[in-house]
Amino acid sequence: MSDVLALPDYTEMDPAVAARFVRLKQRPVVLEVDRVGKTYASAKGPTTALADVSFQVHRREFITVIGASGCGKSTLIRMLAGLEPYTAGSIALDGKPVSGPGPERGMVFQGYTLFPWLTVTRNVMFGLRMAGMGDDEARSQAQQWIELVGLARFADAYPHQLSGGMKQRVAIARALANRPRILLMDEPFGALDAQTRSQMQSYLLQIWENVNITVLFITHDLDEAILLADRIVVLGAPTPGIPHGHLMEIIDVPVPHPRSAEQLLSPRFLATRRRIEELIHGGHAQSTSDKLPMIKMTQAGDEVV
Ligand SMILES: Nc1ncnc2c1ncn2[C@@H]1O[C@H](COP(=O)(O)OP(=O)(O)OP(=O)(O)O)[C@@H](O)[C@H]1O
Ligand SMILES: [Mg+2]
Repeated sequence: MSDVLALPDYTEMDPAVAARFVRLKQRPVVLEVDRVGKTYASAKGPTTALADVSFQVHRREFITVIGASGCGKSTLIRMLAGLEPYTAGSIALDGKPVSGPGPERGMVFQGYTLFPWLTVTRNVMFGLRMAGMGDDEARSQAQQWIELVGLARFADAYPHQLSGGMKQRVAIARALANRPRILLMDEPFGALDAQTRSQMQSYLLQIWENVNITVLFITHDLDEAILLADRIVVLGAPTPGIPHGHLMEIIDVPVPHPRSAEQLLSPRFLATRRRIEELIHGGHAQSTSDKLPMIKMTQAGDEVV
């Protein structure tokens, strides 16, 4: 990659940021992923999607997981959620092995998963009622979460009356209402337009700062991964040398908190971005095989004229 910009080393950080990481890594470990792997059985024989992935998530930490399409991000988060069994290694939450879904793991995935026949309040109350909480108490708690995500005016609306971003805010309120130990998010803003997405990133950061919550967030968007994260888990797609999804690096993001979109062009942000690009794309934003044959298309057009 041509060195147009003289960027700092992505591993260098200001003393205040370094001190924050020392404190963060002293916090208790909420999630321990140890040499985890997943081999799918199929008609053509077993296929290993992911192997030998290890990392720890500390309390109140915000971890993002990034990697090219097919590197096993959704497989990993589904195993963490207990929706998919792992076939190697171990996953433990607060020291207890994960062997199925549980209320201590809240989930917000890309598709809108609200119940369309329930109001916003009823959607947020749902898990609390299922857990046996009385109607009045569940309603009062739901109202607080709805207020936290800034949707008090829409408490009695139905999902079809909300925008995509609002629906995802309800999904976040609903997940948080169950008081999970960790919030698992798989490309939750992937279906939103760029402006709404950037607004949602800012809301999520505010919510994370207000609520005592640990977050593991999957994305394939480099800026999103850096802006949100304390640390980034970079996964690699299968290569001829390593024929399955694998852990490439865990990056301590050197960008100070509080975060804002203005930091997207700061030298430390750009240095981190460049490092992830190097890891995922070998330094190139696109591989040549991804490029469309534009010249041929222009020539074809010329012939018509
Ligand atoms: N149920 C399944 N059976 C067999 N193989 C699967 C299954 N689910 C996923 N895979 C394979 O596992 C690999 C990883 O898939 P996964 O969906 O986890 O990738 P991803 O990183 O989430 O990709 P994307 O960025 O496109 O969402 C792929 O090669 C995929 O074909
Ligand atoms: Mg996926």
